[in-house]
Amino acid sequence: MKIVDRVFDGKAKNMKILIVDDEVEIIDILTTLIESEVSCEVVTAETGNQAVSILESTSDIDLILSDYNMPDGNGATVFDHNRSNGNIPFVFVSGGYLEDYEDISSFYEVNEKNAYIHKPVDFEELITTINNVFEGSDISENNSKYCHVSINLLLKYGCKSEDVFIKLSEEKYIKIKNAEEDSLDEIMKYQEKGNDRFYMLRESFLPFMDSIIINHNNKLLGTPAKISHIDICGDSLEIMQDSLIQLGLTSDQLLLINTTIETCIDILDSEKSLKDHIQVFLKGRGYFISHSMTAAHISYLLATKLGMGQDSIINKLLYAAILHDILLPNSEVCKIYNIGGDEYSALDSISKKLVKEHATECSKMLSNSDKVPSDVLTIIREHHELPNGEGFPRGVSESNIFGLSLIFIASLHIADHLYHEGHSKDSMYRLLDKLKSRGFASGHSERIYLQFKGIVEKASY
Ligand SMILES: [Fe+2]
Ligand SMILES: [Fe+2]
Repeated sequence: MKIVDRVFDGKAKNMKILIVDDEVEIIDILTTLIESEVSCEVVTAETGNQAVSILESTSDIDLILSDYNMPDGNGATVFDHNRSNGNIPFVFVSGGYLEDYEDISSFYEVNEKNAYIHKPVDFEELITTINNVFEGSDISENNSKYCHVSINLLLKYGCKSEDVFIKLSEEKYIKIKNAEEDSLDEIMKYQEKGNDRFYMLRESFLPFMDSIIINHNNKLLGTPAKISHIDICGDSLEIMQDSLIQLGLTSDQLLLINTTIETCIDILDSEKSLKDHIQVFLKGRGYFISHSMTAAHISYLLATKLGMGQDSIINKLLYAAILHDILLPNSEVCKIYNIGGDEYSALDSISKKLVKEHATECSKMLSNSDKVPSDVLTIIREHHELPNGEGFPRGVSESNIFGLSLIFIASLHIADHLYHEGHSKDSMYRLLDKLKSRGFASGHSERIYLQFKGIVEKASY
């Protein structure tokens, strides 16, 4: 058991967060991400029972972030203890689905601030969730130029391409390691002198964390030296794999789709004007990458069931899955399917414009490339339309939407539902109702709906 006590830059902020995970690397990553944005104290435990003893002996913890699957007391052990002792806000950070955890009940009911974050963790989702819990308190780390980076992380993963600083005063930071230097000697020297707070420039911090997260994911997957694109997305996809298999995709099909996506990415990446956008896709986290990859798989499933499994058609759907949201800056805005809803109204005017225009703008931007077939441009332009005419930007009804777009749009809505609500039987039947209410059960899209209904009815629960 390790208790990390920190004094925060002379600020009298005492928010205390308990992070529980059996993987020390995840603890390091979460701690570092949180500390870069939130002024708080972090306490950590590596098993459910350790967390319980910390909760028994510490009265001032404000928030628990906990994994579910752990040896020696799982997430339910921590949740149950907390529920009957203090009931402080509890956030699951896990690769599974809440509804699959049969020993957790009334999770959202017992505390309205309880929340669920899927692994791999999306940085913005993590910070937004924490800010929601601490609503009203000023907890932001207000230094915009430098981010604190945990010494554990620096020593474990190295920092080959980053400058490292220490802080002399509120205004003054000095560089103790240059980006070009490999050696960690200076950092260790300062640590020996009792300095355990090191900083990076904010602009190099997120790429640095990205490389650590990718490194960690690859280690888990046991990936050989060459890192392929799909390996990078692998962790995000892994959490959806159970849903896809339940819906009838075989492991051979999963492999085939992944290989095809890999080829599509290589082709797009080979064009200079698209390179940066492909990198954005590959660096995507959380919902962004998860819904894109899941939509690719569902599109394949629906197209083959509809007798449209020819390579050229599948490729178009996979291109659309990779490219459709690349102009959006984060997962939060990717999640918005309804521009009449609360989530959209809460956005600032720039984000609203982005959401409203990303489909058209993305299609326009890609029209300059000769690697992207014109049908893909149409699918991307229409990916937020709905068969009932309530989509955007044009709000046209199903008879005016391209056939492949209808398959892709249905796949996106299915992927979104699986991400948020999981694949239990109840959830899948709720999804059918949802698709019906969005107009998928009539006109040209009816056969897509009926195929999917068949899949849901045949699935093993
Ligand atoms: Fe979109
Ligand atoms: Fe999307």
